[in-house]
Amino acid sequence: MPTTLTRDCLRLDRNLSDAEYSRYRELIDQRRGFGYYQKLEIRDAAGKQLTTPGSHPCQAVITILDAHGFPRDFAGKSVLDIGCNAGFYSFVARLRGARSVLGIDQNQHYIDQANLMKEIVGIDVDFRTGDGHSLDGGIGAFDIVINTGVIYHLQNPIDFLCQMAKLTREFMYLETEALLSPHLTDYAWFIEGSYCEDHSNWWVYGPRCVERMVRAAGFARAEFQGFVWTPPPGTKTPEGYDRQGRAAFTCWK
Ligand SMILES: C[S@@+](CC[C@H](N)C(=O)[O-])C[C@H]1O[C@@H](n2cnc3c(N)ncnc32)[C@H](O)[C@@H]1O
Repeated sequence: MPTTLTRDCLRLDRNLSDAEYSRYRELIDQRRGFGYYQKLEIRDAAGKQLTTPGSHPCQAVITILDAHGFPRDFAGKSVLDIGCNAGFYSFVARLRGARSVLGIDQNQHYIDQANLMKEIVGIDVDFRTGDGHSLDGGIGAFDIVINTGVIYHLQNPIDFLCQMAKLTREFMYLETEALLSPHLTDYAWFIEGSYCEDHSNWWVYGPRCVERMVRAAGFARAEFQGFVWTPPPGTKTPEGYDRQGRAAFTCWK
């Protein structure tokens, strides 16, 4: 594989020509219209840097997820990255040995971003649009499912998790916004309106609540791996809610 994952970037083993470099910068800029979520940092062999202007610092986050059960070895596995966004975790899975990776996102503009990243980094991932609630039609099952940053965006998370259970052969890695208070670990909070200025946020779950939901959906075992991010104490969302944390889970069929 010509690209490697380093601590601070996806590193190409070749130099981008000046023409390629300015073309990719322009194409990254053109896909800014609907916004970027993932901040991917790509560097060529000479150190020329391409960065997507997202708020989610992928390189820093993968280091933290790795310390919380994200698979370091995907050797020979088939992988589904649900809610793949601009494709970072799909690329990581391939770079860590996955045999095949399907990245699915319900938003075409994210799939367009992912396909541009694929062209730049030269990593073979199949990116398609689709809704995780209704993926049964002929895509088969996958050894590993990556499910990060999605379930708090869903109105019907159990439906979605049941679909994921049908599609998972061995293991699902799950990450989500999660309630910080140990007193609320068994509960979930339904948001009517907006949270962090995002109307697509519907639920924030206590960690034990997530484990129960995952088991009820068809997984044999679900284990809270800890909070992967917590805000400074006293942080409020723009709406005035207490800002919650992010938690990771390993889920086994
Ligand atoms: C917060 S982003 C997380 C992106 C990526 N998984 C990550 O962890 O960086 C949520 C992504 O899930 C996608 N998404 C939300 N609901 C979905 C659904 N029902 N089916 C497929 N993708 C979905 C969104 O379009 C968005 O790209």
